Amino acid sequence: MPARIIGTGSALPKKAVSNGELEKLMDTTDEWIRSRTGIENRYIAVEETTTSMAVEAAKRALENAGIGAEELDLIIVGTISADMCFPSTACQLQDALSAVHATAFDINAACAGFLFGLTIAEAYMRAGMARTALVVGAETLSKMMDWNDRSTCVLFGDGAGAAVVRKDEIGIDGIVQGSDGARGSALVCENRLVNNPFIQNGNRIDYAKMDGQAVYKFAVKTVPQTITEVLEKTKTEAGQIKYFLLHQANIRIIESVAKKLNQPIEKFPTNLQECGNISAGSVPILLDFVNREGKLERGDKIVLAGFGAGLTWGAAVVTW
Ligand code: UT7
Repeated sequence: MPARIIGTGSALPKKAVSNGELEKLMDTTDEWIRSRTGIENRYIAVEETTTSMAVEAAKRALENAGIGAEELDLIIVGTISADMCFPSTACQLQDALSAVHATAFDINAACAGFLFGLTIAEAYMRAGMARTALVVGAETLSKMMDWNDRSTCVLFGDGAGAAVVRKDEIGIDGIVQGSDGARGSALVCENRLVNNPFIQNGNRIDYAKMDGQAVYKFAVKTVPQTITEVLEKTKTEAGQIKYFLLHQANIRIIESVAKKLNQPIEKFPTNLQECGNISAGSVPILLDFVNREGKLERGDKIVLAGFGAGLTWGAAVVTW
C-alpha cells in the first residue's frame, strides 16, 4: 500500500469549559453528562477559528514529520464548520503555510471527515497524483450549537488535528468507507437557505440538531461491522491491533464496540473526557495525543474509525 502517516499535530482552544461551568449556564448536571457520555470537559474557541487551529495543527504535524510545507502537493481539510463558504479552509491553510505546490480543498464527511480525507490522499498516491499530503480535521462546532439545547451543546468541542501522509511501501493497509444519506435527518444543520429577491424566506440561522438515540444505534451497529470488514480486507486479526482510535462521541459507544470486537477496553485510548466530540477533529487529535505520548512504534498496527452525520462512516488499518 502506498501511503504512510509520517507526522501528526493538533491544536485546541485555550478556553477549557468543564461540565460544572455548563451547570451554571443551563439546566444540566456534571453527573448527567459524565454518566451518559463520559465527557468531563471541552475546549471552546474564543480567539481561535477553524482555520487558525488547522494552521497550528498542520505546523505541528509538519514539524513532527520533519518536512517543509513546500513538499506538500495535496492538502485536504475535513470540516463542517469552515470560517468561510469560500475560499476553502484548505486554501487558507495553504496560504498560511506557504505550501505553494499543493492542491487544496475541503471535504464534508462530518465525523468521518478525517477518514475520508485519508482515503482520498491514499487514492491520489495510488494514482500517482501526489507524493506528500496533509490531511486535517478542523472544527469550531461551538458556533453551530444552540446553547439553549442542552441535549446537543454539552456534547461538542472545538479543535483541529492533522497528519502528514507520504507515499511509501507500508502504511495504510486498507480502508473501508460508506454513507447512507437516507438516514441523514438524524443529525442536521442547515446552511444558508434559498434567499434572493424572488423569494421571501428571510435569513434564518439554524443550529445543529441530533436524534441522539438514532445516531447511537447507528454507531454501535455500523462501527464494529466496518472495523470487522476492514480487518478482513487487510487479513488482520483484531488481536494484532495495538490501538483502536475511534471517533470520540460517547464512551458508551466505544465500550460497546470493544465488547462486540471482543477486545480489551485498554486498547481503545480516549480523550473525549477532556475534549468532547470534535467531529472531523476527533480522530486526528486522538492520534496526535497517542503519538506524542510515545505509544506508537514503527510496525505497530492501529485502527482508525470515524462515524457521524451524513450518515457517513469509515475505518482504516494502519501500520505505523
Ligand atoms: O458525532 C456524531 C455522532 N454522535 C453520536 O454518536 C451521539 C450518539 N448519541 C448519544 O451519545 C446519546 O444518545 C446522547 C448522549 C446524545 C443522549 O443520551 P441518551 O441516553 O440517549 O439520552 P436521551 O436523549 O434519551 O435523554 C434522556 C433524558 C431526557 O429526559 P426525559 O425525557 O427522559 O425526561 C432528556 O431531556 O435526559 C435529558 N437530557 C438531559 N438532562 C440533563 C438531555 N440532555 C441533557 C443534559 N442534561 N445535557
